Amino acid sequence: MEIEKDTTHEVTLTVNGEVVSREIPARRLLIHFLREDLRLRGPKVGCDTGHCGACTVSRNGETVKSCMVLAVQTRGDEIETVESLTEDGELNTLQQAFREHHALQCGYCTPGMLMSSRNLLQHNPQPTAEEVRAGLHGNVCRCTGYVNIVEAVQAAAQEGGSR
Ligand code: FES
Ligand code: FES
Repeated sequence: MEIEKDTTHEVTLTVNGEVVSREIPARRLLIHFLREDLRLRGPKVGCDTGHCGACTVSRNGETVKSCMVLAVQTRGDEIETVESLTEDGELNTLQQAFREHHALQCGYCTPGMLMSSRNLLQHNPQPTAEEVRAGLHGNVCRCTGYVNIVEAVQAAAQEGGSR
């Protein structure tokens, strides 16, 4: 029996402010679409099962784990990856705070941490340390112990760094 080939679908969406149209296999995950098709290597694949948060991106203004979304489901959506955070090639306030507070070591979790932190600050511009921890509960870091990450997010909040 002949094995049926994957069907594909024409999908148009906006990624980091640019309209993108592609023929996408029905089963391709958003993370693989972003990394392999669009060559956006900021979002990382950690677990591929929705647990680590390394693949976190923004979808229509809310964070999603892009390993849990099919790319074809994002038709018409606005997706933002960590690449969208820099301003004219410069680190934004939140990224700068992560750097200044040593909130990363290997950096593998950082793109997801930044996207979740931004989302948190957009909803809660002055979070307590407890609220930062709760806001980042879906993002795992195996290096830092989280203390510096929490400090960085609160420092960015002081600077109004919710963009
Ligand atoms: S790779 Fe998506 S949550 Fe871990
Ligand atoms: S900095 Fe290494 S996993 Fe977070």
